[in-house]
Amino acid sequence: MTTLLRIDASAQLEDRSLTRMLTGLFTSEFLTANPDARVITRDIGQDPVPAIDHRFIHAAFTPPEAREDWMAERLALSDRLIDEVEAADIILLGAPMYNYGMPAALKGWIDHIARIGRTFSFDLARGDVPIEPILKGKQLVVLSSRGEFGFEPGGPRAHLNALDPAIAACAHYLGVNAADIETIAIEYQEFKDARHTRSVATAKEAARALAQRFGQATGKVPANSYRAEPALVSHC
Ligand SMILES: Cc1cc2nc3c(=O)[nH]c(=O)nc-3n(C[C@H](O)[C@H](O)[C@H](O)COP(=O)(O)O)c2cc1C
Repeated sequence: MTTLLRIDASAQLEDRSLTRMLTGLFTSEFLTANPDARVITRDIGQDPVPAIDHRFIHAAFTPPEAREDWMAERLALSDRLIDEVEAADIILLGAPMYNYGMPAALKGWIDHIARIGRTFSFDLARGDVPIEPILKGKQLVVLSSRGEFGFEPGGPRAHLNALDPAIAACAHYLGVNAADIETIAIEYQEFKDARHTRSVATAKEAARALAQRFGQATGKVPANSYRAEPALVSHC
């Protein structure tokens, strides 16, 4: 059975969030194409994870067999979040652009996912590349929204885009090959003009098509064996 992990990072509620609209649309289209799929939802926008602190880091870098009770307790949420990623074949990320980067809630979630011994190993015997990811073979779909426009490679605001590159840099912690990330982004939200209306319509159509493609593919083949075509980066 295929598992879709839906993560919403917008601080806005359903009725005001474009990324929540897109993740909801993707999920329902995906389930129509693959009714047997399981969906795990994790709403980090409404229920943000706490920032990591010195106790978290101390606990994470203590070998499991040497951990005191407080350390296991401090890592319990991180363990649950990683369990959800491990269970997922497809990770669906609703990721608005905030101050040109990712919402703090999304960064906080990634800080809980990037864990030595669970999502990466570290060995200086590997020379200049000591970090090796542990998870593999997962798909990542990023459904985004931006108030401005032109953040795509070569676009007038490409140099300000600290969101897409940051997600790609951390993709290996999720078991995702950065080159396979599928990104669809609404733009012009702050302009509220015809360009925004067109952008929303185009993004909805792209999200629908992608969900059907993933749903049909994963409905036919064993979970974790589906490979997407080369990444679609679509700024609508
Ligand atoms: C706190 C905050 C910061 C934002 N920063 C940016 C920004 O740096 N660049 C941009 O293009 N849009 C920015 N926006 C606009 C959002 O990206 C846009 O409203 C988007 O639709 C938010 O996603 P949502 O509708 O799912 O909440 C910001 C919005 C908020 C609330």
